[in-house]
Amino acid sequence: MAEPFIQVHDLVKTFDTPAGPLNVLRGINLEIQKGEFATIVGPSGSGKTTFLNMLTAVDTPTSGEIVVGGVPITQVPQRKLTKWRARNVGIVFQFFQLLPTLTVLENVMAPMDFANVWKPGERREVAMRLLDRFGIADQAYKTPDMLSGGQQQRVAIARALANNPPLIVGDEPTGNLDRMSAANVFNIFSELAEHGTTVVVVTHDRDLVHGVPRVFELVDGMIGETTLAAAAARRTQELRAMRTRTAIRQGTAH
Ligand SMILES: Nc1ncnc2c1ncn2[C@@H]1O[C@H](COP(=O)(O)OP(=O)(O)OP(=O)(O)O)[C@@H](O)[C@H]1O
Ligand SMILES: [Mg+2]
Repeated sequence: MAEPFIQVHDLVKTFDTPAGPLNVLRGINLEIQKGEFATIVGPSGSGKTTFLNMLTAVDTPTSGEIVVGGVPITQVPQRKLTKWRARNVGIVFQFFQLLPTLTVLENVMAPMDFANVWKPGERREVAMRLLDRFGIADQAYKTPDMLSGGQQQRVAIARALANNPPLIVGDEPTGNLDRMSAANVFNIFSELAEHGTTVVVVTHDRDLVHGVPRVFELVDGMIGETTLAAAAARRTQELRAMRTRTAIRQGTAH
């Protein structure tokens, strides 16, 4: 079998805080194959964003190794990582993060300047094709504020794909969308994965995770592959325990 596209070995991230060291990731190990669609679930504050920041080389781990597409990004010097990221990773955020003064088309073209994947003369056409693929070519000359949330997120996905990266990462990309738009975004991710893009998405949306082939759960700084039912059962148990603790504190436990 081919080498996994993503390999994470013993990944540890500790933040120094005024209250002392905070061990957010305590030794993460996982492998994701090329063209897989994986989601990461877990309680708020469990370190999901921290993990994505390591995977996209936005932040560096305390220890451990990450290899993406054969590149050991935890060993590459910081000055080379910016270019690596521009060519290899498309990131989609919860609040879209489109540049408000640029048109939709200019937003999609913006990452192309830096990565130099497309010749200057090709860039507009590539961007228009991406917008067309997501059904928003007619919005190209508007500014993002004139679009609906779902449309803005499709622009953000087009921008993430601008340099045709092998990896797409999303941090709660449907957190700010209605059900239809959210399902649409997940359909786009599934299609991308079918065509060989590796997709890693952090989400709270358990309805959408149904149908996603791989689910990882981040709890207490460790990650495990899970089934949705098991993750949901654990969450119900935690909530019950939390309610009991609150009831005891309030002296209302029976
Ligand atoms: N730069 C930092 N310095 C210190 N602590 C940090 C830093 N970044 C994150 N943390 C802490 O690390 C923990 C994990 O944060 P993170 O944002 O990764 O959680 P998350 O799982 O993405 O949560 P959410 O679901 O709410 O987005 C939190 O306790 C957070 O306060
Ligand atoms: Mg987060």
